[in-house]
Amino acid sequence: MTGKLLNIEQAVASFRKLLEQQQQRSAQIKSGSRLPDFATLPCVRIALAGGDGIGPVITQYAQRVLEYLLKDEIAQGKAELTEITGLTLENRLAQNCSVPETTLRQIKSCHVLLKGPTTTPQAGQGIANLESANVTLRRELDLYANVRPVNVPDKGIDWCFFRENTEGAYVLGSQGVLLEGREAGSELAFDFAVTTRPGVERIARSAMNYAKNNGKKRVSIVTKANIIKTGDGNFLQICKEIAGREFPELEIDDWYIDIMAANLVNEDLRRKFQVFILPNLYGDILTDEAAEIQGGLGTAGSANIGDRYAMFEPVHGSAPRLIEEGRLAYVDPRSVLRACSMMLAHIGRGDKGNILDRAVTAASTLHPITGFENGAKTEDFIAELMKGITRAFGSAQAP
Ligand code: IPM
Ligand code: MN
Repeated sequence: MTGKLLNIEQAVASFRKLLEQQQQRSAQIKSGSRLPDFATLPCVRIALAGGDGIGPVITQYAQRVLEYLLKDEIAQGKAELTEITGLTLENRLAQNCSVPETTLRQIKSCHVLLKGPTTTPQAGQGIANLESANVTLRRELDLYANVRPVNVPDKGIDWCFFRENTEGAYVLGSQGVLLEGREAGSELAFDFAVTTRPGVERIARSAMNYAKNNGKKRVSIVTKANIIKTGDGNFLQICKEIAGREFPELEIDDWYIDIMAANLVNEDLRRKFQVFILPNLYGDILTDEAAEIQGGLGTAGSANIGDRYAMFEPVHGSAPRLIEEGRLAYVDPRSVLRACSMMLAHIGRGDKGNILDRAVTAASTLHPITGFENGAKTEDFIAELMKGITRAFGSAQAP
C-alpha cells in the first residue's frame, strides 16, 4: 500500500493544508522574478550533473563539447563549469531527500543546469520512495516551461511542445490521500491535480511568444477538457483568453489528448501542427510519442525554463535496462547534446549551439546510432562529432 491511511477528519485537514499551500504558490507566481541578461553578465555559471544510469556516460560527452566550445570564455573567466556530484540516487537515498539542501544550493548558485537523467524510486523497490528529483528541481527552481522540440525534416515535421511543468497532476503527485474505507481493506486513494490561473497564463504566454517570435502561426492547445472539466476546462479557457487578448495574429485550435495522440501518427495531419501547449501529464506522454517519431527518445533534448533559472536535460530516463542488457557502448548521446545546444542558445551562445546541432546531424548520417549492436558505437559517433565541431569552430573563428 502506498501512502498513509487516514480517516476522514485527518484527510480533510490534510486537504485544507494542501489548498492553503497551493493558494500561496499561486500568489507567488504573480510576483515573478527576472532572467539574468546573459549578454552583459560578467560570468555565466553552468552547473553539470551526470545523474544516474546512462546519465554520467552521455553527459560526459556534452561536457567535452562545452569545454571545447567555451574554451576561451572559460580561460577568460566569462564562463564557468561546476560539477554537481550530489544528484546521484546513492546520495539522495543516503540523505533521504529527493534533492539534498547543499546540492540545491550549489545548483542555485549557478545560472543554468545541464543534467543527465535521474532515477526515480517507486513503491515496492525496497528503497525510500522519494519524490522524483526532476519534479523537485522543477518546483524548487520554478521551471514552468518544459520546451521540447521535435524535428523530422524529411517528413515535414517541425514541432515545439510547451508542457506546463510545475503543476497539474505532478505538483502533488507525492501527496495524495489514502482514505479509510467503511470496511477494513476497502481504502480509497485520492490524488490531486492543480491548475492555477497565473500558472496557465505563463505557459500560454511562453508558447505564444515563441510562436510569434519564430514565424509560427498555429498553436494547438491539448487537454481533456470534456472530461476533466475543472482543471483542464480552466486550462483551455485561460489559454484561449490569453490568445484572444494578446496574440490575435495566431491561429489557435484545441484538441483532446486522445485524438492528438492519434494525430501524431497520421502522416497527413501531423505536418500541419507547429506549437503545442499542454498540461503536465499530457505533455509528458505526448512528448515521448513525438520523440519516438523523431527517431527515439535517445534523440530528444529538452529545456526547463523559469523566470530565473533554467535546466536542460534529455527527455528520457536513466535507462537501467540498456545497462543490464550490456548495450552501453551503443548508447545514444544525442538527447543530452541537443539539450546542450538548447542551453547554449539560452545563454546567448546560439552560434555555438548551431555548430553543435549541425555536427550532431552530420555525425548521425555517418554513424547512425540505434542503441543496439546493429547501430554505430557511441565512441565512433563522438569522434565524428568532435571532428565536425572542430572544423566548423575553426572556420567560424578564422579571420
Ligand atoms: C520527463 C520524465 C520525468 C517526468 C520523470 C523522470 C519525473 O519522464 O522529464 O518527461 O515525468 O516529467
Ligand atoms: Mn517523460
